[in-house]
Amino acid sequence: MKKLIVPSILSADFTRLGEEIKAVQDGGADWIHVDVMDGHFVPNISIGVPVIEAVRDINPPPMDIHLMIDNPDDFAEIFIEYGKPFVKLVTVQVETCKLLYSTITKIKSQGVMTGVALNPATPLSSLDEVLPYVDLILIMTVEPGFSGQKFIRSMIPKVARLREIIDKSNDRNKPLIEVDGGIKLDNIGEVAEAGADVFVSGSGIFKSNNYAETIQEMRQIVEISSAKRL
Ligand code: DX5
Ligand code: ZN
Repeated sequence: MKKLIVPSILSADFTRLGEEIKAVQDGGADWIHVDVMDGHFVPNISIGVPVIEAVRDINPPPMDIHLMIDNPDDFAEIFIEYGKPFVKLVTVQVETCKLLYSTITKIKSQGVMTGVALNPATPLSSLDEVLPYVDLILIMTVEPGFSGQKFIRSMIPKVARLREIIDKSNDRNKPLIEVDGGIKLDNIGEVAEAGADVFVSGSGIFKSNNYAETIQEMRQIVEISSAKRL
C-alpha cells in the first residue's frame, strides 16, 4: 500500500487557511489532517464545524478528521455531513468511548473510514476486541492538544509491536497504522521502519520553508525506510 503524507492544518496560518491547504495540496499531500478539540478531553479548543464547511468549499484533499472530544458520538455524523464528500476518515480517541464497538459501527455506516486513536499511555491491548472492525489505528506520538510538541521516542516500539500484531493476525481486515505528533524529517524514517503507513505532520510541514519539498523529502525517506522492513 502507498504510504501517505498528511499535513495537519492545526499548524497552518489560519488567516490564510484556504491558501495554506492549496499549497500542501499542490505540494503532494495525500490527505489533510483536521484536529477537532473540545477543551475537555484536551486542554485546547481548535477547529469546529463551520471551518470544516468552509474547507469543503475549496475542493480540498481528502479530510482526515481527528476527534479529540469527550462526546464523539454526538458529533461524528455532523462533521461527516458538513464535510461531504471530502471526509475520508473519522478517528475517535479510545479513551473517550464507553461503547467503542457502537461508535465504530455508526461511523462506518456513514460510508467513511473509521479510525481509533490511542494516547501515549494507552496500551495496545485496549484495541484487542475491535481490531477486526477498524480501518486505521492512530498511535499518538505526543499527548494530544497542541502542535509543535516533542516526539515521544518510546512510541516507536509501540508502532513496531502493533505492526507485528496486525501482520500476524488471521483477520482479513488489516488496519492502517497512523502516527501523529512531532513527526519531522529527522524522525519520520524511524517511524516508517517501525511499520507506520500514514504520517501526520503539522509543524514539520507548515513551519518549513517549502511545503512541496518537505512533503517530497518525507515521502522519499518513508519509501526507503519502509523498504528496510521487507
Ligand atoms: C496534536 C494533534 C496533532 C498536531 C500535530 O494533538 O493531534 O495532529 O496538530 O502537530 P505536530 O506535527 O506539530 O506535532
Ligand atoms: Zn491530530
